[in-house]
Amino acid sequence: MNEGKIIQWYPGHMAKTRKEIANIISLVDVVIEVIDSRVPYSSRIPDLHKLTRDKKNIIVFNKYDLCDKEETCKWIDKYTKEGYICVTCDAKNSNDYKKIINEVKNIMTSVNKKRESKGLLPKKAKCLVIGVPNVGKSTIINKIVGKSIAGVGNKPGITKTLSTIKINDFMDLVDTPGILWPKFEDQNDALNLASMTIIKEEILNVEDIAVHILKLLSKYYPNILLNEFGIEYYNDDEVEELFTKISKKKNIPVNGEVDYEKVSFNIINTIKQEKVKGITFDRLK
Ligand code: G4P
Repeated sequence: MNEGKIIQWYPGHMAKTRKEIANIISLVDVVIEVIDSRVPYSSRIPDLHKLTRDKKNIIVFNKYDLCDKEETCKWIDKYTKEGYICVTCDAKNSNDYKKIINEVKNIMTSVNKKRESKGLLPKKAKCLVIGVPNVGKSTIINKIVGKSIAGVGNKPGITKTLSTIKINDFMDLVDTPGILWPKFEDQNDALNLASMTIIKEEILNVEDIAVHILKLLSKYYPNILLNEFGIEYYNDDEVEELFTKISKKKNIPVNGEVDYEKVSFNIINTIKQEKVKGITFDRLK
């Protein structure tokens, strides 16, 4: 295993996107940052405030259906105190996206009151949806627009000029999500991101990701560890024994030797396929 290895990798197109966003940001009024509720720290865009400066910022805690709601409350409290408007959202299975539209409405009501008092005409909000890969940006844009315009999948890039879609009389939406690269401050962030398929598992060692998942389940969600993988706790000294037990539970053949790679993919896929819910891997100290 690659204990302590820190990933130094950043896709070139993401650097380009950052520049493109910097070019259009002056035309944007509201930045809608979508994050994965299960990793509300690791899935934030680093230094976003440097890009968005004085814009109104909404943080969408997406994939709310998959997270530990108690932990989410703590993160919402923290980010709200920092001045963000926070919205929880299950974009896939609900109409929560309407809460985002409502927040934009609230913002514009207060902006336009001020404008009116200065004798200025009301303005519409130009909104940019932004976030790291796979957090649900396209799903949210599609729901807000009401038809499929942003391909669901990881398509990088953003239009150079501000091409917007009219949503209603107070809101226009930039029609492409801004996809940026997540934090890579340490190995723990990277493993959290890989656990939620925000960065591809190939970038890291699959066994490292699987062990990370087992460790965190063992620490915070022992019932899930037991029910899903048939083990009571994770211990570094018993990896072979634990992986053998998981192989049995998951019907993965052990022909003399444990197939660590197969078991690791099975563990990762359990989260990817949403068999495990109610988990949050980023914790406030
Ligand atoms: P992105 O633009 O940020 O890259 O994300 P995208 O909308 O492509 O969504 C990534 C995956 O996450 C999709 O699954 C999507 O359905 C799923 N997703 C988005 N929002 C939510 C949510 O709130 N809850 C849950 N549980 N899933 C969500 P996929 O497997 O890649 O595609 P598919 O399931 O739509 O076929």
